[in-house]
Amino acid sequence: MRARIGLAITAVSLMGLAAAGNPAPVSHTDNGRRIFLHGTTAAGRIVQNSHGMEGVGCAMCHGEDGRGGMMHGIPAPNITFSNLADPDGHEHEFSNRRHPAFTRETIKAAVVAGIDPAGNALHEEMPRWIGLNGADLEDLIDYLQALSKPHRRPPPGPERM
Ligand code: HEC
Repeated sequence: MRARIGLAITAVSLMGLAAAGNPAPVSHTDNGRRIFLHGTTAAGRIVQNSHGMEGVGCAMCHGEDGRGGMMHGIPAPNITFSNLADPDGHEHEFSNRRHPAFTRETIKAAVVAGIDPAGNALHEEMPRWIGLNGADLEDLIDYLQALSKPHRRPPPGPERM
C-alpha cells in the first residue's frame, strides 16, 4: 500500500515537472477563457476597464458559466452567445431596456462602450472594457460561444493544474 502511494506521488510529481518544462500552448480560446474568468489575457496583460478592477473577469458578475448573476442587487444577464443572439431579443425589466438580438459586432459595442443593440446605455455596474484589442474581443466572443453548449463546464485552465 505504502509503495503504491509512493509510486503515485512520484508519477504526479513527474507529471508536474513535465508540465513545467512544456507550458501548454496558448490557444485563442485560452485567451478568451482567461479574459472571461480572470480579466487578464493569455499573455498576462491586465484588461483595463472603467471600474479600475484588476484581475477580475466577466465571471464575477455573469457567473462562471456565463448564465447570469447578481452584483450589488443588479441583475447581470446571461451572456452565453446563444442567449445574446436569441432572435426574439430581450426585455430587461431592471434597467428598462428592450433590445433585438445581439451579433458579434453589437456584443463588442456592449463590452467596450456599454451600448446594447437598441442603442441603450447599459447600467454603469457593467464595466466598459477599454483594454481589449480586436483579437481579444474575437477570442472572448468565441468563448461565449463555447459556453453556449448545453451542460458544458468550462474546461480547467493550465493555471489551475
Ligand atoms: C461588475 C459586474 C460586471 C462585470 C465584471 C461584467 N459585467 Fe457585463 N453586465 C453587468 C451588468 C449589471 C449588466 C446589465 C446592465 C443593464 O441591464 O443595463 C451587464 C450587461 C452585459 C451585457 C449586455 C447583456 C444584455 O442582454 O443586454 C453584455 C454583453 C455583457 N455585460 C458582457 C460582459 C463581458 C463580456 C464581461 C467581461 C469582459 C462583463 N460583461 C463583465 C455587470 C458586469
